[in-house]
Amino acid sequence: MLVDRFDRRINYLRISITDRCNLRCIYCMPPEGERKLRHKEILRYEELLRIVRIGIRLGINKIRLTGGEPLVRKDVQEFIPMLAALKGINDISLTTNGVYLRDNLEMLKAAGIKRINVSLDSLKRLNFKLITRFDYFNEVWEGIEKARDMGFYPIKLNVVIMKGINDNEVLDFGRLAIEQPYHIRFIECMPIGFESNSMAFIPNSEIEKALIDKFGPLIPVVPGQNDGPATRFRFYGGKGEIGFISAISDSFCQDCNRLRLTANGMILPCLLSNTEVDIKDPLRKGCLDEAIIEVFLKAVDLKPKCHALNLDNHQGVYRKMCSIGG
Ligand code: 5AD
Ligand code: SF4
Repeated sequence: MLVDRFDRRINYLRISITDRCNLRCIYCMPPEGERKLRHKEILRYEELLRIVRIGIRLGINKIRLTGGEPLVRKDVQEFIPMLAALKGINDISLTTNGVYLRDNLEMLKAAGIKRINVSLDSLKRLNFKLITRFDYFNEVWEGIEKARDMGFYPIKLNVVIMKGINDNEVLDFGRLAIEQPYHIRFIECMPIGFESNSMAFIPNSEIEKALIDKFGPLIPVVPGQNDGPATRFRFYGGKGEIGFISAISDSFCQDCNRLRLTANGMILPCLLSNTEVDIKDPLRKGCLDEAIIEVFLKAVDLKPKCHALNLDNHQGVYRKMCSIGG
């Protein structure tokens, strides 16, 4: 079992399978994109499967695929079913920008994936284009609606509200959570990668207040075992949910249960620190499983009690979000 120094049980691995993306969201990438990893720097699918198999022996039972954008990686349609078929994983999901969602839903369903997270920061085509720098709103929305019609549940929509950019859409997202079964999750903009992200920051408490003023009380939803950092609510009579992920204003670290694996084979003990443990190097040197287990144990041991972003002397997070996967 993986248990850290603060008695938190680590059972959740988030795997960024590629740093590439078909969007350029303003809080995540510059217009020209980031330097891309070379093919040989990226963990191969067989390598990922080996890491996950060993993780399962250590108690990992929940996996999320992220990116970049996971659905742009070549042959992901073969990889996901292989991953999902591993015994011991009882919860597998992915975070996608939704651009290629529609055409992958059959594959995801056949692989047994039931729930998905889609990053969606605007419900308006033009604003979507301003934020992501691509005109793909209609494709994404079509994917979301098809997923709903095919019975995917829950469909979580990750929303990063930014001052002066999409803060005028908060109530539209609130209304969506009343009328549709979607779980809208407001994620506070984290100062990762770009100076401007701090300027765009709006605390979730402001969003919560605007929603309550307009739609009435938010009723807490009894937390599930695998909820992670979101606090969850419903409106009276609402079909969907509202969740808040308040990384900055309200530290959620006490319940952290996760490790992250980057596309280039580093394990990150914490999203908001710069510590990394290399798993690719021993893997490529042909090590025994025991050496991989050591890497897992070391990464878990390095998990901080809590992120230090709010401290004055924090140096910032060096990695960009497209290479961490959120
Ligand atoms: N702050 C908050 N959330 C972010 N994401 C990407 N960059 C940031 C940031 N700086 C979110 C995306 C996506 C998830 C993977 O992480 O919107 O939903
Ligand atoms: Fe791509 Fe996600 Fe980054 Fe947007 S936030 S550019 S969708 S990786």
